[in-house]
Amino acid sequence: MAIHQSYVAISLILLSGLVATCYGVPFTSLNKTIGITATPSIPSGQVLKGGESTLTISWSLNATSSVGIDTSDYRTVEIKLCYAPISQKDRGWRRTEEELQKDKTCQHKIVERPYNPSNNMYTATIKKDVPSATYFVRLYVHNSHKEVVAFGDTTDAMKMTNLFEVVAVTGRSIGLDIASVCFSAFSIISLFGFFILEKRRAKTK
Ligand SMILES: *[C@@H]1O[C@H](CO)[C@@H](O)[C@H](O)[C@H]1NC(C)=O
Ligand SMILES: *[C@@H]1O[C@H](CO)[C@@H](O)[C@H](O)[C@H]1NC(C)=O
Repeated sequence: MAIHQSYVAISLILLSGLVATCYGVPFTSLNKTIGITATPSIPSGQVLKGGESTLTISWSLNATSSVGIDTSDYRTVEIKLCYAPISQKDRGWRRTEEELQKDKTCQHKIVERPYNPSNNMYTATIKKDVPSATYFVRLYVHNSHKEVVAFGDTTDAMKMTNLFEVVAVTGRSIGLDIASVCFSAFSIISLFGFFILEKRRAKTK
């Protein structure tokens, strides 16, 4: 029994150590080896609508910034929508943290794909649950141990250029809301109507 318990305890300690090494990755340790673009972006004057608009994302290994970096264990890429600083202001739940596990910058996953050094393209429809905000796109590269090892941003280091804006569609128009309120009122009135009618009928019988 005692042996069994200590075995469990040791396993738990080992496991938590493993989890810590997997996730305690600071953003600055990642190599920016991927070049990535997304269109349209704000200079084009377009605002994207949640549930409707599409974003076309292209990426490849940057021949300049990847010089001397071992990319042989790059396995998958994960592409995410990330809040630009203007949409993080006064919103702690979107803040940027140096440690990746705690970072709240990139909360909306777009897609995950196998890693391929060149000619990658993906067209995504902005999901309906994406809040109205200003965004950029970030790509994380994972290795065969599912660790994040590299990244690429559609914006510059200051996150000021090539941003885009999403306007969330609430899913219901005001017209629909009014219609549903009227319909509920109508159902309540008719329910009462039936009730009164039934009572009268009961009396006359
Ligand atoms: C590739 O990296 C270099 C050096 O970091 C950078 O100047 C250049 O803009 C990058 N190119 C792309 C397509 O991201
Ligand atoms: C980034 O590249 C350097 C080599 O330039 C390498 O030593 C380091 O391990 C790389 N970082 C990651 C997280 O793979």
